[in-house]
Amino acid sequence: MTQQIVLKSRPLGIPSLQNFETITVEIPKLTQGKVLLMAHTFSVDPYMRGRMSDAKSYIAPFAIGEPIMGGGVAQVVESNADGFKAGDFVLGMVPWQEEMVVDATGLQVVDEKIAPLSYYLGILGMPGLTAYFGLLDIGKPQKGETVVVSGAAGAVGIVVGQIAKIHGCRVVGIAGDQSKVDYLMNDLGFDAAINYKTENNIAGALAAVCPDGVDVYFDNVGGEISDAVISQINKGARIIICGQISLYNATSQPVGPRIQPTILKRSALMQGFIVSNYASRFPEGFKALAEWVGSGQLKYTNTTYHGFEKLPEAFIALFEGKNLGKLIVEMK
Ligand SMILES: NC(=O)c1ccc[n+]([C@@H]2O[C@H](COP(=O)([O-])OP(=O)(O)OC[C@H]3O[C@@H](n4cnc5c(N)ncnc54)[C@H](OP(=O)(O)O)[C@@H]3O)[C@@H](O)[C@H]2O)c1
Repeated sequence: MTQQIVLKSRPLGIPSLQNFETITVEIPKLTQGKVLLMAHTFSVDPYMRGRMSDAKSYIAPFAIGEPIMGGGVAQVVESNADGFKAGDFVLGMVPWQEEMVVDATGLQVVDEKIAPLSYYLGILGMPGLTAYFGLLDIGKPQKGETVVVSGAAGAVGIVVGQIAKIHGCRVVGIAGDQSKVDYLMNDLGFDAAINYKTENNIAGALAAVCPDGVDVYFDNVGGEISDAVISQINKGARIIICGQISLYNATSQPVGPRIQPTILKRSALMQGFIVSNYASRFPEGFKALAEWVGSGQLKYTNTTYHGFEKLPEAFIALFEGKNLGKLIVEMK
């Protein structure tokens, strides 16, 4: 028997602990092609909020009474699948469960000698690849351009800003806490950072730190923050729609300014993307990120919760801005 966390009810607005339930389930037999895993570290990610509702999206909703699924690193206890042996650490989409039997298809062996295991959920994993492909493939930052990133102190944002610096850009971050602003500027070398929670005129604050306008906007949050940035884009600007976290818990559709005239007049490009669009190029992204991490050009940090039972609390913390860098939950 093992512990499993299931979706108990669909949240209305910000998720609460009541939307989750911990139950005890049996561990099935290890049939051909499967592995028995012991959970090591789980990733909690904003996109999982979308799966908690039953609205149509690019990925199917979680079912009520079924386990929450998310990115995780686990250790193989027993294997009945080629290519996996007891003791291996694997990365994959796994249920929120302490011990689990899962199909080995889709699991990838990861090596803690190459990087700390948590990095495969962050800088060398999905968030890092999101930053890499979104910024470079859509944003195409050029030396000397001004890049603005919202959600700047989170898992994706800190990588976006640093890659833009590596490409010789002036980088401005927007985040919701003074300690995050300090971290971006003092530890990661951002040129400026704005605390949107204490700044009552975001557009004015942006104008002050972007005297030459905005060439690339990496949008992690949407809403009023993005309205303020988009009003200041330059001719030929690129706007990368990566996430809209400020709207994920909205219970009604907010109406913002009509931005099409700005996009038209500035001949700007605005493009959304899902990181899996780039799946065939993940090895390229992994290699570049690993080299920058190895050379010290890319720094990274995690916020870590400890204990399986902390998973729901950690997930909710994403919407309260409690994380700096990648939010993970370690079993110990
Ligand atoms: N397109 C893709 O394939 C893809 C892949 C990965 C992630 N994403 C998206 O990218 C964004 C960042 O993801 P992440 O994993 O790096 O998360 P994260 O930034 O590590 O964590 C979420 C952060 O969002 C900020 N936030 C929460 N509520 C907010 C609000 N109402 N307004 C403004 N900011 C708010 C908080 O920071 P503050 O303290 O600054 O408020 C919080 O720390 C998310 O929107 C996510 O859905 C997209």
